[in-house]
Amino acid sequence: MKQKKDTHFGYETINKEEKSKKVSAVFDSVAKNYDLMNNLMSMGLHHVWKKILIETTTLKAKSRILDIAAGTADISIEFLKKNKNYQIFHTDINLSMLKEGKKKLINEGKIIPSILCDAESLPFPDNFFDCVTIGFGLRNMTNKKQALKEIYRVLSPGGKLVILEFSKIWPPFKKIYDQFSFKILPKLGKLFAKDENSYKYLVESIRMHPDQKKLLELIKSVGFEKTSFLNLSSGIVSIHKGYKF
Ligand SMILES: C[S@@+](CC[C@H](N)C(=O)[O-])C[C@H]1O[C@@H](n2cnc3c(N)ncnc32)[C@H](O)[C@@H]1O
Repeated sequence: MKQKKDTHFGYETINKEEKSKKVSAVFDSVAKNYDLMNNLMSMGLHHVWKKILIETTTLKAKSRILDIAAGTADISIEFLKKNKNYQIFHTDINLSMLKEGKKKLINEGKIIPSILCDAESLPFPDNFFDCVTIGFGLRNMTNKKQALKEIYRVLSPGGKLVILEFSKIWPPFKKIYDQFSFKILPKLGKLFAKDENSYKYLVESIRMHPDQKKLLELIKSVGFEKTSFLNLSSGIVSIHKGYKF
């Protein structure tokens, strides 16, 4: 039976199974050059955004933290730099990305569990974590609502969700941002990572992702309370938060 084309891969409308395969191919292809490309494309800004995420997330001394779609582990590492007593689980659906993250964690001297898992079906018990973070991962998920439901389930009462994701830029800057994104980013991908298409997907997927207010509604719809968002760099990215009570 033919599956319904009811999701997106960038601007393309496809079915859910195809999306998982295509997203997985993108991250297999970009894994080795992921950090280099992140630094080039954001001109280093992604480190600042991640630092802001860490600094604005206050937690108890021995909190248990789930870093979802953690890839090359920047967020896990920053949390451990802030407090070596945090118990962090570094997780991702993609083995190539998880391996790159593991190498980096070991090089930094951080020995924490790295687990291959899908955010839409988390292998953890109910009420297990004090905090769940996702950095630039939600946009790539096939069923975002299902992932948010799973996160809600594994968070303990009082636990918080923190999402760092591309968002909608302040309209006066849209034109110049679009020109940079569509004209320059795929070319950088071609030049430095020999992969233009993955970076074309990146640019398109950002445009297809829900804006700040829609994402806030989605988070609320699965039960999160005291939800909020903070725009960074005029809305290029935003940090969304919500609590389970
Ligand atoms: C852009 S990278 C972000 C990596 C890292 N968090 C960062 O901020 O640099 C997105 C990651 O999301 C992961 N991902 C996509 N779909 C996922 C899913 N359903 N469950 C878990 N991870 C997923 C990809 O494998 C990829 O490593």
